[in-house]
Amino acid sequence: MTTEVTFIMVKPDGVQRNLTGEIIRRFEAKGYYLRGLKLKQVERSLAEEHYIDLKSKPFYPGLVDYILSAPVVAMVFSGKNVVTMGRKLIGATNPLASEPGTIRGDLCIDVGRNVIHGSDSVESAQREIGLWFPEGLVEYKPHMLPWIYE
Ligand code: PPS
Repeated sequence: MTTEVTFIMVKPDGVQRNLTGEIIRRFEAKGYYLRGLKLKQVERSLAEEHYIDLKSKPFYPGLVDYILSAPVVAMVFSGKNVVTMGRKLIGATNPLASEPGTIRGDLCIDVGRNVIHGSDSVESAQREIGLWFPEGLVEYKPHMLPWIYE
């Protein structure tokens, strides 16, 4: 049984629009387990570090300011292929290209207000979880796994 984990963030617009519960519901309903959760007013150094790979992009300063504009909800989910499947649940980066049925396809319109972030690889997930949850995660074993996995 895999213990793959991914980092998911409800961005400020998602929190302000009360979409956190809907986003958690979609991940839980799929079969993933919530392993970490915090409401956080992000400090600039964390936002800049989180998006460090995008530092040269023209939208980087605006993206950092957007993340600082109001609290975010930082989460970790676990389960089989959760990084890849999490990105599928989220949908394409630009909501114009996100399919209906995905989080972005259903819940937002502009790329600069696209409500959610999800790690793009297992390596990114490890890095991001380390940044956002330096205290580590609670250890626990969900009981329903035989009803989710064959
Ligand atoms: S890129 O250019 O391909 O590296 O970028 P991409 O992978 O599409 O997106 C990386 C993150 O940047 C955010 N993004 C933007 N934010 C604000 N404005 C604009 N124009 C914009 N373009 C891309 C995008 O939502 C991704 O953020 P996360 O939080 O990782 O989803």
